[in-house]
Amino acid sequence: MRILFVSSEAYPLIKTGGLADVSGSLPAALRELGADIRILIPGYPAVLQNLINTQPLATMSGLPYIESATLLLGEMPDTKVPVIAIQCEALYERDGGPYVDSHGKDWDDNPLRFGILSLVAAQLSCEDSPVSDWIPDIVHCNDWQAGLTPAYLRFMDQVRAKSIFSIHNMAFQGTYSAEWVSKLQLPAESYQMHGLEYYGRMSFLKAGAYYADAIATVSPTYALEMQTEAYGFGMQGLIASRSHEVHGILNGIETHEWNPAADPHIAKPYDDKNLVGKKHVKQALQTQLGLTVNDTAPLLGVVSRLTHQKGLDMLLEIAGPLLEKGCQLAVLGNGERELENGFKSLAVRYPQKVSAVIGYNEPLSHKIMAGVDMFVMPSRFEPCGLNQMYGMRYGTPPIVTSTGGLADSVTDTNTQNLRHNTATGFVLKSPTAHELLNTIEHALTYYADVKTWKRIQRNGMRRDLSWKESAGKYMELYSQTLVKK
Ligand code: ADP
Ligand code: GLC
Repeated sequence: MRILFVSSEAYPLIKTGGLADVSGSLPAALRELGADIRILIPGYPAVLQNLINTQPLATMSGLPYIESATLLLGEMPDTKVPVIAIQCEALYERDGGPYVDSHGKDWDDNPLRFGILSLVAAQLSCEDSPVSDWIPDIVHCNDWQAGLTPAYLRFMDQVRAKSIFSIHNMAFQGTYSAEWVSKLQLPAESYQMHGLEYYGRMSFLKAGAYYADAIATVSPTYALEMQTEAYGFGMQGLIASRSHEVHGILNGIETHEWNPAADPHIAKPYDDKNLVGKKHVKQALQTQLGLTVNDTAPLLGVVSRLTHQKGLDMLLEIAGPLLEKGCQLAVLGNGERELENGFKSLAVRYPQKVSAVIGYNEPLSHKIMAGVDMFVMPSRFEPCGLNQMYGMRYGTPPIVTSTGGLADSVTDTNTQNLRHNTATGFVLKSPTAHELLNTIEHALTYYADVKTWKRIQRNGMRRDLSWKESAGKYMELYSQTLVKK
């Protein structure tokens, strides 16, 4: 089966969040199961720099507003998964991030930049493709940036691939002024309620959710949540109307990249049989961050986008009592100014107990994941979440809310779950600051009991968090979708 996997980020080429981790690791897992898969991605400077064995593949013409774009065929540096990069200087070769400029402001031409990603994906997925020797059976579109692909395909009068639209986060909808419909060469009839119109504007996410042959999302619980008003961000009705075509498949993680026994970023390797190395990593982390070096002080960690979704304002609210109890806190993240400033001022006030690194730092994220005792992730909603899984893999029990992929991947610690060796973390009963404090205090009582704590750590480290099972489910979904009328 030929699969075109369309994504606006893929680790290690370019990453701003979990989508990159998934787009880097899932295609490799699918390839091991026999899929003939290629990733399609915009040619950002980092992508062009990091791709290996690159050669010109085709020239795309007739695209809106740009004369032409060159497709390059290369490979992922580590997994060798084939990648098609869209090289177009005017759209993608800029300083700043994939979505925002160096001041954090969205690029004004994002609808064009991702409209063209979507359109190129569609043109590669039909019989008139300029790459005639490799036409996919399935085009797997990820998040709003690839959301227009199913719409373009629906209105193409040719044999074409079936489309799957994966939603990683309902909160990001790619909603723009209606004039983009004609600007992006979409037919006028697509602009209606039964189409991509959304409250007088056009939405990339709605286009994907409406026109795709099947919808996927990144955990079974989120697949249900996204059909409700509380989590659907206005799209719940549409998703619910297709509920029999919505598939919740839990993300896996890349277990080589995230492996405490062979992680080049951490001071000492360790595994589930021997956790001594983790103490050294904690010590090295405390030293690096300027915290008091103390093996017994419970060290809590955060690596996150600092946004309302992640619920870290609740952690700020209860930081005082936690620090009084002797806890330390290591935060790495960036995002909303208020949260950044909140953690920065906490670190200024308690320099030996709190460290706040504002920014994006891949090596430090591994050091924190390995060096802290508990990972705090009180998300208000979380389609899947990867950090709680990295935490379990590194013997760092996560403290999480009961939502989306957090609910599907973390097993709460209680007498029964301890007896069955299934307890891997701590789950809040409700998403409030008060409950977060309660749950951390509850975790601290287990932490004080060294033997039981090790069991919780080991339970997490022994979980199979790899893509094996979930990649198989995607293969099934591809086969099912292929035969759909
Ligand atoms: P989301 O995609 O919603 O941000 P996930 O938990 O799925 O959440 O994935 C986040 C990914 O981004 C993880 O790999 C995490 O380690 C990484 N990450 C988030 N913030 C930072 C940061 N400031 N520095 C380094 N890595 C980060
Ligand atoms: C989104 C979600 C996150 C998920 C990631 C990868 O960024 O917010 O929960 O893990 O996508 O699927």
